[in-house]
Amino acid sequence: MTAPVRGPGSGKIMDSIKVVGGAELNGVIPISGAKNATLPLMIASLLTDETLTLTNVPRLRDVAQLTQILSNHGVDYSVNGKRNGQDELAGQTLNLTAREIVDTTAPYELVSKMRASFWVIGPLVARMHEARVSLPGGCAIGTRPVDFFIDGLAALGADIDIEAGYVVVRAPGGLKGARVEFPKVSVGATHTIMMAATLAEGETEIVNAAREPEVVDLAKCLKAMGAEIEGEGTSTIRIQGRQRLHGARHAVVPDRIETGTYAMAVAMTGGNVLLQGAQSDLLESALDTLRQAGVEITQSAEGIRVYRNGNGIQPVDVTTEPFPGFPTDLQAQFMALMTRAGGSSRITETIFENRFMHVQELARLGASIQVDGRTATVEGVSTLRGAPVMATDLRASVSLVIAGLAAEGETTVNRVYHLDRGFERLEDKLTRCGARIERITN
Ligand code: UD1
Repeated sequence: MTAPVRGPGSGKIMDSIKVVGGAELNGVIPISGAKNATLPLMIASLLTDETLTLTNVPRLRDVAQLTQILSNHGVDYSVNGKRNGQDELAGQTLNLTAREIVDTTAPYELVSKMRASFWVIGPLVARMHEARVSLPGGCAIGTRPVDFFIDGLAALGADIDIEAGYVVVRAPGGLKGARVEFPKVSVGATHTIMMAATLAEGETEIVNAAREPEVVDLAKCLKAMGAEIEGEGTSTIRIQGRQRLHGARHAVVPDRIETGTYAMAVAMTGGNVLLQGAQSDLLESALDTLRQAGVEITQSAEGIRVYRNGNGIQPVDVTTEPFPGFPTDLQAQFMALMTRAGGSSRITETIFENRFMHVQELARLGASIQVDGRTATVEGVSTLRGAPVMATDLRASVSLVIAGLAAEGETTVNRVYHLDRGFERLEDKLTRCGARIERITN
């Protein structure tokens, strides 16, 4: 049985979320498959003419959007229907088949909606020896250049031109394995060069590779497709190119950012929640930080249990870093938590410039935060008060929901469009645990 790829809820751009603060969270939250793994895994389907089946795929706007982009290149897709008795939050099974690539151009109208879609450039040039991909858009969190991608593909022997906002890559004789050293850790560039290298001639060595669990998950899937890769999860990855890859079946790794986000929500409200299916080895640094803040965390076969009783929240300093450090994608949520800590904490963002857009909105709820360059100093306050706030990017939006869960009265988070890109049925998952939260469809 097949069904269209489902995006989240009603998902209108101007929807808002209303939160009435003060309720503890208690119960079970199922953790979805990782958005940031699903996107490159879907893109990997371009590397073979056989079917790639992905299970545990989250229902998210970005996933639905990427199916549009891939089908433009000629990828057929189908989604398995739900079995009787299956939880409505169970992941989807997505079948992707790129039997024939009909178009090697990824147009501006599609790529500008989601930065990660730029990554199709690697598989397209590897398989078709040419690609024309628009420069990307995505979350407004500072300038996010593509120089590492261009330099990496050039090292693999591609000719590259920038023409009218498009990156045009040609490798008439196919890509050739080479040493690619990134000046700075980049998740997207690591995904892209690793995928491209699977079909290059000879060996590619990626130096200063990203070690994120999503890179490991992609490597695992590529290996199931017949690729030869070693060193994933370390900073040097070696790939022996193959003439072709084949179909495979792969289960998407649990979402460590969703896990960390709900752990911070429970830390904020107090209570006791099982994050079902979550894996602590994917986010040790964030969990250690929460333990220092006074939260009890235990791993069991079922998932991660997060518990905070009546004790207050302790202030903790954090600096964002590439994996295994504290993730930038949890920085906004952690800042929301620190607004209620019993003292002062310093939060330093080293991955993206301009990733403090949530500060002004948290201030509207009564938070006390001073930003000096890359560091925000948060003075914990005893009370936050509900107010209308505006979501500005994916992780910032959810930080406002976390703050709203602990604020007195009603908080309306406007423009939740970004939330739907990355959090599957957030309001359902929180309501199941006792939160007073609802979506207002405008
Ligand atoms: C991915 C994640 C995003 C996360 C980020 C960092 C997905 C879909 N997105 O984004 O949620 O916040 O990793 O963990 O997985 N850079 C360059 N030149 C380049 C590429 C990157 O200078 O060519 C810089 C960026 O501006 C940034 C840093 O490298 O300062 C890291 O960015 P990168 O890891 O590439 O982020 P994304 O892969 O876009």
